[in-house]
Amino acid sequence: MASADWDDARGRMLLDPTVVNLNTGSAGPLPRGTFRRVTDLRTRLARAPMDFLLRELPPLLWRTREHLAGFLGGTPHRLALTTNVTGAVNLVASSLNLAAPGEILLTDHEYPPMRRCWERMARRQGLTVRTFRVPTMPADPGEIVEAAVAAMGPRTRLLSFSHVLSTTGLVLPARELCVEARRRGIVTVIDGAHAPAFLELNLADLPCDFYAGSGHKWLLAPTGVGFLHIGPGQEDNLEPTQVSWAYEPPPGSGPPDERDRFGSTPRLRRLECEGTRDLCPWLAVPESVDFQARLGHDRIRLRRRELTDHARRRLADGQGLEPATPERPGLSGGMVAFRLPATTSADELRRGLWERFRIETAVGDEPGGPLLRISANFYTTEAEIDYLADALKELMAG
Ligand SMILES: Cc1ncc(COP(=O)(O)O)c(C=O)c1O
Repeated sequence: MASADWDDARGRMLLDPTVVNLNTGSAGPLPRGTFRRVTDLRTRLARAPMDFLLRELPPLLWRTREHLAGFLGGTPHRLALTTNVTGAVNLVASSLNLAAPGEILLTDHEYPPMRRCWERMARRQGLTVRTFRVPTMPADPGEIVEAAVAAMGPRTRLLSFSHVLSTTGLVLPARELCVEARRRGIVTVIDGAHAPAFLELNLADLPCDFYAGSGHKWLLAPTGVGFLHIGPGQEDNLEPTQVSWAYEPPPGSGPPDERDRFGSTPRLRRLECEGTRDLCPWLAVPESVDFQARLGHDRIRLRRRELTDHARRRLADGQGLEPATPERPGLSGGMVAFRLPATTSADELRRGLWERFRIETAVGDEPGGPLLRISANFYTTEAEIDYLADALKELMAG
């Protein structure tokens, strides 16, 4: 795609022209079409709420479920919609029963709130939590599998890992990790917060027990979209975090996995229904999926690669910052992180980038020291990365 086409794609996004957004990894902006769609749905909800909730919503909800499942290579009947990844992981961590004593195994790069979910689960069930070190600059995905396998033991009941590390953007070999865990009878929960539209997913082919993902990052769906894809054999093992109407199947409801009149299935609705609330973000998901499909996912991924290569040239070759993300395709995508000098205050640098330059990018104190993480998407420009490089030079000089 020529650069004029990327300019055109950028024009189709709602972007504040005064902000340099290099942080899709935390939250993505919306395509204009998705914003129009969710706003239109909310207008209908506002004008005739009961007609909308009772009659308009169910077919739209099923449309989202089919669309999203198709995009993820999963199954609509296994796809529970949630508000975010936190909600999806909590569904598992607050209700799945594991055999105690035993341990929950995590990588040392898990997102802290998710780690807390597992710690609470461990406390409640008489388990322990153990972490293993992920080799973050592996030459080969096999090194990550080796580290995980070495950490798995007879006490390991559950393994949870991020498909894409939020700290550095490293992509973990999910399939191989799940195969090894399953061979040892270990339940797997993948935190795929960054994965939808960042990686090509084929959930039906991934031997994991639970896969949680979010919509508001690389999928560019409205805030308020997450999902949990439930693997074969785990259907009966979850309880809703919030008990509501669907906790008991309504009179006359059909088999648990059959599409129902609510745009769900009795089994999924039991997990999804949290009383009356605004589900419009869920209903607008197909617009975001189709928008990126029209641009072409492969082309988007290639463009992200061009941009992260540019960031490496500017920040590593140009300014001597050490990359913390491997270059090899398969181990990375649209995010690249760089080590900052150990004396850097992540908070101050983040504040300086925002207050002096209106640059939004992730800067954090991570295992191994402070890191700067750049997210590059098709609406990012080389000029924005250059602007970041110049801003860093200025802020780090004094
Ligand atoms: C790896 C990872 N897991 C979980 C989350 C939590 O996502 P949410 O706040 O949407 O629930 C994030 C958010 O950035 C994340 O990066």
